[in-house]
Amino acid sequence: MKQDMIVILDLGSELNTMVARAVRALGVYSEIYPHDITADKLKAMPNVKGIIVNGGPNNIVDGEKIFVSDEVYNLGIPVMAVEHDAAKTDNKLAKWPDDEEQVKELLKPFVFDICKSEANWNMKNFVADQIELVKKQVGDKKVLLALSGGVDSSVVAALLIKAIGKNLTCVHVNHGLLRKGEPEQVVEVFRNQLDANLVYVDASERFLGKLKDVADPEEKRKIIGAEFIRVFEEEARKLEGIDFLAQGTIYPDIVESGTKTAKVVKSHHNVGGLPEDMQFELVEPLYYLFKDEVRACGIELGLPDNMVYRQPFPGPGLGVRCLGAITRDRLEAVRESDAILREEFANYGLDKKVWQYFTAIPDFKSVGVRDNARSFEYPVIIRAVNTVDAMTATIEPIEWEILNKITKRIINEVPGVNRVCYDLTPKPTGTIEWE
Ligand code: XMP
Repeated sequence: MKQDMIVILDLGSELNTMVARAVRALGVYSEIYPHDITADKLKAMPNVKGIIVNGGPNNIVDGEKIFVSDEVYNLGIPVMAVEHDAAKTDNKLAKWPDDEEQVKELLKPFVFDICKSEANWNMKNFVADQIELVKKQVGDKKVLLALSGGVDSSVVAALLIKAIGKNLTCVHVNHGLLRKGEPEQVVEVFRNQLDANLVYVDASERFLGKLKDVADPEEKRKIIGAEFIRVFEEEARKLEGIDFLAQGTIYPDIVESGTKTAKVVKSHHNVGGLPEDMQFELVEPLYYLFKDEVRACGIELGLPDNMVYRQPFPGPGLGVRCLGAITRDRLEAVRESDAILREEFANYGLDKKVWQYFTAIPDFKSVGVRDNARSFEYPVIIRAVNTVDAMTATIEPIEWEILNKITKRIINEVPGVNRVCYDLTPKPTGTIEWE
């Protein structure tokens, strides 16, 4: 292994994630574990240079105060205790002050002077380590990956191609609800450029058939999710001798900040609802990365910028942006208007600034006038929001000139659309998506 590591043991602190990020910002890798990890497990981890016992307000579980076992203190690895009655260590800290910069300063003497860690955490080393670990885990067996084309699955694919080449099979299911150019880019990047073993399944007709006349948003979601698993399962059954399933699980999926220590590691091992007779061991090479690190990893692996910096896109795709029962004409209109919006946002540099932006199309028409004649066509709604965690969101104040240009392009270039509206509703009361 190429990287030194500081382990953070969670005793109910709300700042585990911040401390982990602060250690990583110092250039030293860090991981968070529950307080009751055994000394043997810690001993088995390579390159652990120091342990931070991170106490906090939630260190009472079921009425009992929780502790780290004496064996951990006696491992011979330096221990720092924070907000915890650690008579067993000399590196005590009463509490963290609140921002990451100050936490970094408080950590420096422990991380470098006491633990003698080297600042060798970088993406080059991370990728090299993961390739080694994946090779060790998988050997010459075969791995399957559902490659959506989203950031996480794309980075997993690129990493596994480096590690095991053709022993990885990527399955890309096009459910017909992807954005313009997305399935083509997956094929171009993974099959043509990276020479991956890629199974491309165009299941558009099948999905549209199942969704015909279904107007309820939750029903649409259920159908898309269930059908996706069915198609993926059918493809998986056609493949011989697969032992492993790769997943783009990332650290925020695992670490809950502000959780009780007993709940630190979420049960997230849901292999996409595959049937029980299809059991795979999981390969999760991004397990310990935060989202910005996943992107940096993608860049290190040579993936294109527009794949690595993609905005979030819901699993049901354009299905929840083509409001009500999906029709082909409106699906095409939402796809085309979204492509125009994305192109213009990129032209004006808004793609780097705005968290999520897209169009939605309602299932009613309005009267307008085109070429001196009455028109009766659909409106398109533009949504552009900023948020930290998608729980609340504010509206991007797009310049008038840009809005005008986008509007003109949509009403001139997208068949069947005669109006454009800009949705000014924050979340709450609106949600980010319309369905
Ligand atoms: P809402 O609409 O709930 O969206 O404010 C918050 C974030 O979640 C995305 N979203 C979804 N993602 N499956 C997903 O994978 C879904 O069914 C789904 N619905 C909403 C949405 O795009 C936004 O980023």
